[in-house]
Amino acid sequence: MAKVLIKNLVKRFGSTLAVNNLNLEIKDKEFVVLLGPSGCGKTTTLRCIAGLETPDSGEIYIGDTLVNDLPPKDRDIAMVFQSYALYPHMTVYDNIAFPLKIRKLPKSEIDKKVKEVAKLLQISELLDRKPKQLSGGQAQRVALGRSIVREPKVWLMDEPLSNLDAKLRLYMRAELKRLQKELAITTVYVTHDQAEAMTMGDRIAVMNKGLLQQYASPDEVFNRPANVFVAGFIGSPPTNMAPGTFVEKDGKGYFDGGAIKFRLPDAAVEAIKSKGVSEIIFGIRPRDLIVSDKKPDTEMYLTAELYISEPLGDEMVLDLKMDDQIFKAVVMSYVGEKFDIGQKLYLTFDPAKLHVFDKKTEELIY
Ligand SMILES: Nc1ncnc2c1ncn2[C@@H]1O[C@H](COP(=O)(O)OP(=O)(O)O)[C@@H](O)[C@H]1O
Ligand SMILES: [Mg+2]
Repeated sequence: MAKVLIKNLVKRFGSTLAVNNLNLEIKDKEFVVLLGPSGCGKTTTLRCIAGLETPDSGEIYIGDTLVNDLPPKDRDIAMVFQSYALYPHMTVYDNIAFPLKIRKLPKSEIDKKVKEVAKLLQISELLDRKPKQLSGGQAQRVALGRSIVREPKVWLMDEPLSNLDAKLRLYMRAELKRLQKELAITTVYVTHDQAEAMTMGDRIAVMNKGLLQQYASPDEVFNRPANVFVAGFIGSPPTNMAPGTFVEKDGKGYFDGGAIKFRLPDAAVEAIKSKGVSEIIFGIRPRDLIVSDKKPDTEMYLTAELYISEPLGDEMVLDLKMDDQIFKAVVMSYVGEKFDIGQKLYLTFDPAKLHVFDKKTEELIY
């Protein structure tokens, strides 16, 4: 078992800065997810940890060892990719046993470990089959089994579930998380799927364009997004955001974004004033908007017109139009069903759920 420390990691491909001065500490036994859109540098970071790419600068430690100059096989890591390749001519048993055989472990020990791993992954009854006799989910489990059978210090996974169908993916998410906790292996898991990251990670490292945006627990990334990018990337649907100006009148503070105008909570006003900014972006999550057809008894509300509603079974997504802006609200279906397209609606929210960002730096203010 070991922690992983990434210090000032830089990796370029020609003129592309794939990883831009990344600093990350992954604790012993921790499950860390690297999350971000395609091309943000997740795979490159993982391959640097594995030793499959050579950093331009920076240091990588596994445990207390600087591994920059160690070849992949000496780093004591296991890696699982999206396209796992099982050896087609070998049985499941031999596929899992392979990493132990090349390390020349005694036969009895190999047998014990293969059976243990198979039991853990619930594939004991498949050990005599060949890969072509397996379903996608079974094959992926065998690949996972093969990667962990020799008990590596660090487990690296690059979108290992993205080839599976939606239902199996949900199932395997939970299975993998349980397995990681049971084995207590320090894990770095790459995905572009924010829901996967939220459900699996102890901590999430959100990346964009090679830069680390936020490194925090799923709860914090969701409730205290460090900047506009994180707020817009996490959550489904993502955070509603609108740019505007901070205005003071009669000792009160207001957000003025043209069609969107409302009084800001005092705590937000204080935070904005202490930063001395006037151009801001406000954000509110779709599930934090309270939608009503009655004018609320507060200055903290927005007005909108119902543009379209999208039923999701027990919930409903309402697209709410304010001039040329659309905000999405997620409400219970029995609430949403009462409203008609084109109807004027009032949106309120708990002041604590509001976010304010500096428009210039895009950093969270409140
Ligand atoms: N071997 C390579 N040669 C050239 N460019 C690469 C190579 N690998 C990755 N890149 C570029 O580096 C950036 C980061 O890629 P990658 O780490 O694969 O992103 P992610 O895994 O987040 O989708 C992208 O712009 C990608 O095109
Ligand atoms: Mg990738």
